[in-house]
Amino acid sequence: MYENILSNNENGICTITINRESKLNALNIQTLQEIKQAVIEANADKEIHGIVLTGSGQKAFAAGADISEFVNFTSEQGRKMSADGHEVMNTIENSGKPVIAAVNGFALGGGCELAMSCHMRLASENAKFGQPEVNLGLPPGYAGTQRLIQLIGKGKATQLLLTADVIGANEAMEYGLVNEVLPIEDLLPRCNEILNKISSKSPLAVAKVIKCINAYFTEGKDGFLTEIEEFGHAFSTKDFKEGTDAFLNKRKANFER
Ligand code: COA
Repeated sequence: MYENILSNNENGICTITINRESKLNALNIQTLQEIKQAVIEANADKEIHGIVLTGSGQKAFAAGADISEFVNFTSEQGRKMSADGHEVMNTIENSGKPVIAAVNGFALGGGCELAMSCHMRLASENAKFGQPEVNLGLPPGYAGTQRLIQLIGKGKATQLLLTADVIGANEAMEYGLVNEVLPIEDLLPRCNEILNKISSKSPLAVAKVIKCINAYFTEGKDGFLTEIEEFGHAFSTKDFKEGTDAFLNKRKANFER
C-alpha cells in the first residue's frame, strides 16, 4: 500500500518507518504524504493509542528533504513544497494520539523538522541533528526556523540555523531538542514503554493536553483560553466520570478507547 514507508501496528502502537535506507531515508514528497496518511489512519484506528516514527537502518532517521527531487524546482514549486510540508508537520503535531520520534541516526534538514513536529524526541547515541539548508542556498522550509526556536530558544536556534552545525545526541539533549539518549537497541522499546504508560491514562485528557500545548504555539490562539475550554469540556466526558469514580472507589481507572 505504501511505497516509501512501513506502517506496523502492534499492541496498540503504530510504528511508522521511513524505508529509503539507501538514500538515508531522504524525504521525497511522496514519502511525506505517506507519513501524513499513516498518521491520519493511526488516529482513526481505535486499536491504536500511540505512534512511533523512525527511520530504517542504523544510520539515518532522515537526512533531509530529497535534494535530487527539488533541484530544478521553480519558486512556485518551492512554495508549494513548503506549504505541503508544513501541512504534514502540522498533521503530526495535531495528532490527538501521542507521536514519538525515535531518532536513530541523522536527522538533518527536513529530518530534523519532521522529528520536531513529533510530541517527543528520543535519540540513539549515534543520532545527529542539524539544519544545513543554508549550505544549499535555502532557508529551512518545513518550519525548522519556527519549531527549533520553540524547542531550544532563539539564541541557540539562530546559531544552529546560520552555521549549519550538526550536533550529536547528547548536545541535542542539553539543548532540550531531545528528551532522552539511549543505546540504539533500547530506542524503540523505550518509546513503546512511554506510549504504554500514556495508554493507561484518559485518551480524551491526553488529546486535550496536546491541544492546549499546541494552542500556546499557534498564531491567533490563546493557550490559556483553550485550557479553560478544554478543562470545562472534560467534565461532560465519560473519561472524567471513570477517572474520578476510580479514584473515589480506590480502584484503577479503566478508560475506554
Ligand atoms: N537528499 C537526497 N539524497 C540524499 C540525501 C538528501 N537529503 N541525503 C543523503 N542522500 C543520498 C546520497 O545522495 C547517497 O545516494 P547515492 O548512494 O545514490 O549517491 C546516499 O543517500 C548516501 O549518502 P552519502 O552522502 O553517500 O552518505 P555519507 O555517509 O557520506 O554522508 C550525510 C551522510 C548525511 C552527511 C550526507 O548524505 C549529507 O550531507 N546529506 C544531505 C544533508 C542535507 O543537506 N540535508 C538537508 C536537505 S534540505
